[in-house]
Amino acid sequence: MKLKPLVQAALALSTLVIAAPAVNAAAQVEVLHYWTSGGEAKSIAELKKMMEAKGVAWKDFAVAGGAGENATTALKARVIAGSAPTAAQIKGPSIQEWGGEGVLANIDAAATEGKWDSLLPSVVTKVMKYQGHYVAVPVNVHRVNWLWVNPEVLAKAGAKAPGNFDEFFAAADKIKKAGLVAIAHGGQPWQDTTVFESVVLGVGGAGFYDKALVKLDQASLTSPTMIKSFETLAKIKTYIDKDAAGRDWNLATAMVINGKAGMQFMGDWAKGEFTAAGKVAGKDFLCLPAPGTEKAFTFNIDSLAMFKVKNPEEQKAQLTLASAVMSPEFQEVFNLNKGSIPVRAGVSRAKFDSCATRSMDDMAAASKAGGLEPSMAHGMAIDSAKAGAIQDVVAKFMNSTMTPQAAVQALAKAAKTK
Ligand code: BGC
Repeated sequence: MKLKPLVQAALALSTLVIAAPAVNAAAQVEVLHYWTSGGEAKSIAELKKMMEAKGVAWKDFAVAGGAGENATTALKARVIAGSAPTAAQIKGPSIQEWGGEGVLANIDAAATEGKWDSLLPSVVTKVMKYQGHYVAVPVNVHRVNWLWVNPEVLAKAGAKAPGNFDEFFAAADKIKKAGLVAIAHGGQPWQDTTVFESVVLGVGGAGFYDKALVKLDQASLTSPTMIKSFETLAKIKTYIDKDAAGRDWNLATAMVINGKAGMQFMGDWAKGEFTAAGKVAGKDFLCLPAPGTEKAFTFNIDSLAMFKVKNPEEQKAQLTLASAVMSPEFQEVFNLNKGSIPVRAGVSRAKFDSCATRSMDDMAAASKAGGLEPSMAHGMAIDSAKAGAIQDVVAKFMNSTMTPQAAVQALAKAAKTK
């Protein structure tokens, strides 16, 4: 991230500045997040409510932009200015990158008290710790490889719910013939990459996905399977409507909700939109594994990383925030709204719908069978520089006449970004 010299200078400066009487930031947390859609806002509101009930004021630092495309920029500016928020929505390998800048706070006190080591899978605790100390708290597990379907649109078009790509394109043809949009999509680089990674998973399987998009194996990136993945993506493009450019993901989901479109590739934050609209899983909408990915599970774990804060009251409030996030009460209510599933053990599944319980079961099964993979598109698999370069290639492919052969070469080059 190369923020270090700037951050250090800013921190030094801010120490000088607080020689003046400190503003009493008593019992307040400022939280940077990008949960601004209908379902997302309902989810984060639960945390605000919970903190206020504990006597901690909530200062909302919301930066709109799906997948945090604008939030990181805002966060960097604040950290460089020496005024980091109490916590920020940061996940995956990025936590290590921020840890390396020396700006994250040690929250071991909350973790020890809450016995996090025994409640979280070790693959998760590893990501939440920097140099052996907790610096972040996980909120949920999102599954990325979903296809959201409006069953009424399928029925109107005489189409069947698809399980593989042949069935998917057959359904898409029928929806298109019925005069509706087959695939709801928003033309933003992160959404393009979300579709791309599910296509790679469906075309190549979990083993190939892992070699290509997690290990960044050059031979896999330029292989016939990757060419086939781009060919499939090119075909998908032909079913997206002409107004997709720049469309936010939740507006694409709304097209499926309202019956204007039939299907959308998206992680299960999309379910938060269906739920917020009062729609019922299995009746008003279907959640199907993306074509050909039934046995695999691409995970995306949201977390709040904690920043070093100076005021002892704010430090205390920060630990209160971390403990609240890990509480079973919060993990239940947040995830019911967010579309995801709890990340910690010991939360009842009684209130969760069929998409969530399927997610829980599929995650366990994929974990046993070797199909559990980190989402590359959502910052779980590789460092941010490489992920950004790959995203650029996919977006260019989606928005030009670039051939699959040229795309795989560009992809292999992007994977070498330092
Ligand atoms: C985040 C989700 C969020 C989605 C859309 C994903 O990367 O993990 O929490 O709802 O982006 O902004």
